[in-house]
Amino acid sequence: MSTPTVDRAPGPPSSEAPAAGRHTDEATTAEPIVRFDHVHKTFHTKLSDVHAVDDVSLTVESGEVFGVIGYSGAGKSTLVRLINALEMADEGEIVVNGVTVLSGDGRRISEKELRRLRGEIGMIFQQFNLFSAKTVEANVDYPLRLAGWPKEKRRTRALDLLDFVGLSDKAGAYPSQLSGGQKQRVGIARALAASPRLLLADEATSALDPETTRDVLDLLRRVNRELGVTIVLITHEMSVVRHICDRVAVMEGGHVVETGPVYDVFAHPRRGITRRFIQATLRDRPRRATAARLHDRHPGRLAIASIVDTGGETAVNLASVAAHQGLTTDVVHGSIGEVSGRPFGNVVVEIGSVGGNTGTVDEGAVEAFFAELRSLGSEVTDLGTADAPLDDPRWADTEPLTGDDGSLKSLLASRRPGAGEAGGDGLDEPPLEVSPTAPTSSSNGSSADISPTTDEEAGR
Ligand SMILES: Nc1ncnc2c1ncn2[C@@H]1O[C@H](COP(=O)(O)OP(=O)(O)OP(=O)(O)O)[C@@H](O)[C@H]1O
Ligand SMILES: [Mg+2]
Repeated sequence: MSTPTVDRAPGPPSSEAPAAGRHTDEATTAEPIVRFDHVHKTFHTKLSDVHAVDDVSLTVESGEVFGVIGYSGAGKSTLVRLINALEMADEGEIVVNGVTVLSGDGRRISEKELRRLRGEIGMIFQQFNLFSAKTVEANVDYPLRLAGWPKEKRRTRALDLLDFVGLSDKAGAYPSQLSGGQKQRVGIARALAASPRLLLADEATSALDPETTRDVLDLLRRVNRELGVTIVLITHEMSVVRHICDRVAVMEGGHVVETGPVYDVFAHPRRGITRRFIQATLRDRPRRATAARLHDRHPGRLAIASIVDTGGETAVNLASVAAHQGLTTDVVHGSIGEVSGRPFGNVVVEIGSVGGNTGTVDEGAVEAFFAELRSLGSEVTDLGTADAPLDDPRWADTEPLTGDDGSLKSLLASRRPGAGEAGGDGLDEPPLEVSPTAPTSSSNGSSADISPTTDEEAGR
């Protein structure tokens, strides 16, 4: 696989002057490549009106990988189809690559401008959308032909692109002879053929297994970093966002409910839906049943603390913060990995006193410990003790209620001898214990910077 042969701007051999109304100087402007301002798109069906995109304002900056995450029906595909005007918005303003697709006063892009704009936007899909009767090379050649490239240049270009995506040996194969990952590579080569500035990827890895997903995401990252192509990537998996996105927008019911740099969204999610997506990928906060088992094993005060980057590469060091209050921390559950190349994770600690034991911690010292952690940006959740357990408020977002009142206290009570079954609510994943080989924060003052232990972390 080579890289540099696919330069970003060979461009079609066209003598056409830029169209009127075009107002971008690509090299000098810091304008976002996509700008949505109070955009609406409603589908009118016989049964009802569906507000697929409802008052969305956002920007995608040139050169970034921008993720859009949401559950099915949230409006993600509609949002992305508004960018290249496969759907026309009803209201609001959309500017893409310096071209006004829809202006605030309702004026729409001309057909001619739209054709030109679409030439600067590539798109890849979940189902690859290749021509099954054409060879791999002919699939990649197709957009070049449409763009009016001469035959001899097309051949070189198509083979360069196939080399870039690692499929030089498949030029003569047909799509049916390829694996899913290889098909998506062809899709990517085809989308890059006309040197787009912007690539739209709609669930591009959803049909692929985790290993192949990672390969395709790595390829997309190369497309972004080496070719400078801005990517808007739609997904319903936070692991995909975590793997390659710089910023993310969370969509729910046609709205963008949360947006920001990926690390910030992981470290300080504001909405329940965001917390659910994060928990589904990190799985490092204990669920209720896990918390009950932790209380069974550890009688002292338990708390969940998020380990966040305090600047540079330094994560919050629980043990040293605890030591300021004469406390010790034993990590009993959780993991620390990386998000956007910075340390992040959640751990449960059992709090003790220096020279004392876990049963005699001073309440004032614990409160001061929590306050200092929070001042460092850590999210702290007090889980109380086995005798007086407290709930993680996030359980309201991340797990369904199960018959009782949903609290940890009622779960623990139901598991006391004589109070029914003792195996938890049956919904929990296997407990995620700290790897015995990983150094943990503890009373000996060692760092809390432990190795990643989740499947997601190891396998992404
Ligand atoms: N052409 C259409 N006509 C009518 N309703 C539509 C049309 N396209 C989308 N919708 C509706 O708009 C809403 C948003 O759909 P959209 O395809 O954008 O969601 P999505 O987030 O991409 O979902 P998924 O993850 O399932 O692909 C849904 O309720 C959908 O049924
Ligand atoms: Mg969709």
